Amino acid sequence: MAGSSTATVVRRRTASWWKAERGLTMATTLIQGGTVVSAIGRREADVLIDGESIAAILAPGHAAAYGITPDVVIDATGKYVVPGGVDAHVHMSLPFGGTVSADDFDTGSRAAAWGGVTTIIDFASQTVGLDVRETLAARHAEAAGECHVDYAFHQIIGDVNEESLEAMTYLVENEGVTSFKMFMAYPGVFYSDDGQILRAMQNASESGALMMMHAENGIAIDVLVAQSLARGDSDPKYHSYTRPEELESEATHRAIKLARVAGNVPLYIVHMSASEALEEVSRAQHMGLNVFAETCPQYLYLSIEDHLAQPGFEGAKWVCSTPLRSKHEHHQKDLWKGLRMNELAVVSTDHCPFCMKDQKELGIGDFSKIPNGMGGVEHRMEMIYQGVVMGEMTLERWVETCCTTPARMFGLEKKGVLEPGADADVLVWDPNTKTKIGINDKHHMAMDHSSYEGFEVDGKVDTVISRGRVVVANDSYLGAKGHGQFVKRSLNKYIH
Ligand code: URP
Ligand code: ZN
Ligand code: ZN
Repeated sequence: MAGSSTATVVRRRTASWWKAERGLTMATTLIQGGTVVSAIGRREADVLIDGESIAAILAPGHAAAYGITPDVVIDATGKYVVPGGVDAHVHMSLPFGGTVSADDFDTGSRAAAWGGVTTIIDFASQTVGLDVRETLAARHAEAAGECHVDYAFHQIIGDVNEESLEAMTYLVENEGVTSFKMFMAYPGVFYSDDGQILRAMQNASESGALMMMHAENGIAIDVLVAQSLARGDSDPKYHSYTRPEELESEATHRAIKLARVAGNVPLYIVHMSASEALEEVSRAQHMGLNVFAETCPQYLYLSIEDHLAQPGFEGAKWVCSTPLRSKHEHHQKDLWKGLRMNELAVVSTDHCPFCMKDQKELGIGDFSKIPNGMGGVEHRMEMIYQGVVMGEMTLERWVETCCTTPARMFGLEKKGVLEPGADADVLVWDPNTKTKIGINDKHHMAMDHSSYEGFEVDGKVDTVISRGRVVVANDSYLGAKGHGQFVKRSLNKYIH
């Protein structure tokens, strides 16, 4: 008797102390019975959410022992509880190739939520003659009130001059925009030459910003494109043949050298598709340079033979840059290895969807006029979890490459982890069922086709929580446009 009353007192004191200490004022949600997976391990635990934040990770059943009565209980028995996904490379409403990418901030961020992604990073885009700050303000105006999940921006720099360099520093110091994308490809559109790139890198080196690089030798590619069209080789598959891996690895090498000259500025190579380019990154990392890279699901699963070279104009669906590569080479195997070994730190989607009708069709008879890009923001968590099932990576590495590292890489301090004080962005993942992807199956992007048509993968997005709000549950959408907020970012957490 004496023992049990002591226990009761302890329990009561603990409950009141616990509530007072943590000030549980807003609606509380308890995700119970699941396996919480982080970048470094997994354990049976319950996740307590208070309003918009994670309040505690509790030993199973301990919420009741602390006298906590949550407003909402989510049963995660038999499921994985992981941080909401962070997709660090998406393009909503991007004007490109004579048209505009098909998802806007509303449809694209909603599709992201359907895919277990609770933060997206898009781009403001400065091209020749434009003012950097004005392009950022315009992008804010486009996204404000439209997003279903939280969002941030990188800034594209396409015109290096005194004003734009000054603006880069301003954005880092004042706007929460701490990364800049430049292009060695697309002459006449986004392209910068080596001198311009070096100057921007030197500026970033001073401010602490991260440089992102589209590493393809666009000048050489344009020669190959003209020669291909002159020969009459105009089908979509020539998009890849005119962008050989040598021109990706050469540009990657050059970007790395320029970054070194600029004071070892942190450099992040986007959408890596080729083994030789990965070797350049790996070599730089072994030399101690601050070089990072991402790949995307399309480079891990899709190929010239099975997709880009489909008969007629079908292959246009998969025209993107860097391009899909041959399945008979070693790229996919090497990219999975790179993800395991941390040579590739992040998986993003480079989500840039274009419909076949009226958009991809612009390139009928001339592959160089097919708008570059494909959609996938909804499918990254699914496609990379399949890598876990295939034995290509661990469950923890899935969380690390899709949630935790992109948050750290781009200074999203409250994202990518489940720990007290972090934003309550959570994905409950059901490993016991399957997801069928296709235009008439799971598909919520504003495209008239699916890049992953016919894929049936293991696991399923079960429940998605964005800053404490359940946005997806029981195959229903419960989120709302305008819930997503702009997030200011700090500097890259690997260097600073
Ligand atoms: O094909 C692609 N990747 N389109 C989007 C623009 C870019 O280069 O990231
Ligand atoms: Zn790019
Ligand atoms: Zn992109």
